[in-house]
Amino acid sequence: MLFDRVKSLDAILATAEKKSLTRTLGAFQLTMLGIGAVIGTGIFVLTAEAAQKAGPGMMISFIIAGFVCAFAALCYAEMASMVPVSGSAYTYSYAVMGELIAWMVGWALILEYAVAAGAVSVGWSGYVVGLIENAFSIDIPATWVLGPFDGGMINLPAMFIAGLVTMLLVIGTRESATVNAFLVVIKVAALTLFVVLAVPVMNMENFEPFAPLGFGGIGAAAASIFFAYVGFDAVSTAAEETKNPQRNMPIGLIGSLAICTIFYLLVAAGVIGSVGAQPVGIDAATQHALEPGSRELAAACAAMGDQAVVCSKEALAWTMREIGWPQVGNLIGLAAGLALPSVILMMMFGQTRIFFVMSRDGLLPKAFSKIHPKFNTPHVITIITGIAVALFAAFFPVGQLANISNSGTLFAFAAVSIAVMVIRKTDPSRHRPFKTPLIYITAPIAILGCLYLFFNLDQKSINLFLIWAAIGLVVYFAYSRSRSHVGQGHIEVHEDDADAPPPPVPPAPSFR
Ligand code: ALA
Repeated sequence: MLFDRVKSLDAILATAEKKSLTRTLGAFQLTMLGIGAVIGTGIFVLTAEAAQKAGPGMMISFIIAGFVCAFAALCYAEMASMVPVSGSAYTYSYAVMGELIAWMVGWALILEYAVAAGAVSVGWSGYVVGLIENAFSIDIPATWVLGPFDGGMINLPAMFIAGLVTMLLVIGTRESATVNAFLVVIKVAALTLFVVLAVPVMNMENFEPFAPLGFGGIGAAAASIFFAYVGFDAVSTAAEETKNPQRNMPIGLIGSLAICTIFYLLVAAGVIGSVGAQPVGIDAATQHALEPGSRELAAACAAMGDQAVVCSKEALAWTMREIGWPQVGNLIGLAAGLALPSVILMMMFGQTRIFFVMSRDGLLPKAFSKIHPKFNTPHVITIITGIAVALFAAFFPVGQLANISNSGTLFAFAAVSIAVMVIRKTDPSRHRPFKTPLIYITAPIAILGCLYLFFNLDQKSINLFLIWAAIGLVVYFAYSRSRSHVGQGHIEVHEDDADAPPPPVPPAPSFR
């Protein structure tokens, strides 16, 4: 009864065929797309949080999180090549495991996308404020640039960037491949410069003690730093536009992850080796350090003049200044300031796209999929999303937002990994342009990895996820179930479902 509402895969595929986007993307473009969506606040900002949780052992945390993502990515690649339509994990689940699970996945994706956009906005704020303060030798009062948990009151710059990106989305901005490539070059150049300057001044003694908070700390840091890899699923949504997806999709997914992992490890080693990365305020008895993003840590940092990378909101720029490259620190701040908004844009775009498809399926109010008469964008849902993102960004610390986002993402990744196994059984003969290698080993490892990271999140984020899921169930049974189009027996095929919202006509302004 509960799991029988499946959206027919054939209907979904008919949609994609009707739309039939031209297949233009090759392995290189896909890899660029992946790197563009992945490199962001995780490495630029959360490195400091990972250090506070694990010390130098965060190197292992980066490897664990990357490993889990690689296995999940292989599962995504099969689903994406087989069901190349938008809606990502939500759509895959609808086709394979039915409406209830799809709803829960879509509900969890709200955490993945909207909360992540909030986290990246806070990360952007840290770098831009640091850049302005250092470049112009001024001191901006913390009250206006940090949230209440971080020693301030409201993070106005983070609200500003969330508002600006919302506006761009309302007028129909979508990032072009050229702009993406340009921003990828900026991000990669900034990280390369960091590595080139930090690695030669590494002091191996800074790696001791390697794991001051034991394996528990390494696991907790892995669960947080997982955020640094989120976004590669953006590659899977481009399946429909990919030439030879059997070959190019896995190269794009795994290639972008591999490149990011190598950069992340080099950057982490550079931070640890050059300025040290020991946690502040370790309690030897409990084997815990002060919680990142807490008032206690902010106070301990203030007392020591913020002289530790774990105290910084702009870890990489701070490290450069510490080792005698203040101008390079500012350049890295500039690179983050320019490039992070595109990560926010992709996250918010992903969110509106999921909401749009869920609303088209009747599970969310119709008003959500209203299209603006002039800009041809789903402005209602974009503005609602923008307000939520701005509020998250204004009041919550980046690490907490990242952890909450991770909880939703891990749920979605696990659901896709289950779906890919289920459909191998239920629909074995369907054409699969890409097949996950050793599926019955790969998918279970992905699921176990997601569970491991999920239970290593802080208790607050786990509780919040559970409360969010419970609210989702109430909304589903009170509102969505009776209004579901599949439930009412409508098998609709919207031409533009394949890549909702419909392409703007006339062409909307873009970065192109
Ligand atoms: N992976 C993206 C980031 O780190 C979300 O900002």
